[in-house]
Amino acid sequence: MVDVTDAESAADPADRVVTLVVNGRAYTVGLDPRVTLLDALRDHLGLMGTKKGCDQGACGACTVHVDGKRVLACLSLAAQCEGRAVTTIEGIGGPDGMHPLQSAFMDHDGFQCGFCTPGQIMSAVALLKEGRAGSDEEIREFMSGNLCRCGAYPHMVAAIREVAGGGDART
Ligand code: FES
Ligand code: FES
Repeated sequence: MVDVTDAESAADPADRVVTLVVNGRAYTVGLDPRVTLLDALRDHLGLMGTKKGCDQGACGACTVHVDGKRVLACLSLAAQCEGRAVTTIEGIGGPDGMHPLQSAFMDHDGFQCGFCTPGQIMSAVALLKEGRAGSDEEIREFMSGNLCRCGAYPHMVAAIREVAGGGDART
């Protein structure tokens, strides 16, 4: 069931009224057509879970799903996402009901500063759906667009492997 918020009036005549369906909820906002999906999520919808790292498509911190496929929100225009299903880390799970990957990241210390973690988890969720977790090498290859400056990669791979195998891969 889609919950429609009050329409936010367009502040600038050049703004375009856009309805974004994010995590099953519809938000109608006035946006400059050049606003990225990342800035729309963070600055207009108040969904701060999606992180801005490089803002130029190089780090994966802003990874979200659009129509079930992972995309870089910093390289996507919000207006292009009208009518499409957007899922952010807030839609995957939270403290009261974590996604198995979120739990596995916790169990395996799959993060240090945590800044890249939402993007890592969004990519990991997609990777599992894509059937790309057949080996550690495959996991690393299909997570390679998500950078972690802290070097928590071995822990992330262990977490993904555990969820992919439906068992405990702690080493
Ligand atoms: S913030 Fe989008 S790829 Fe780095
Ligand atoms: S946990 Fe620090 S950048 Fe990934």
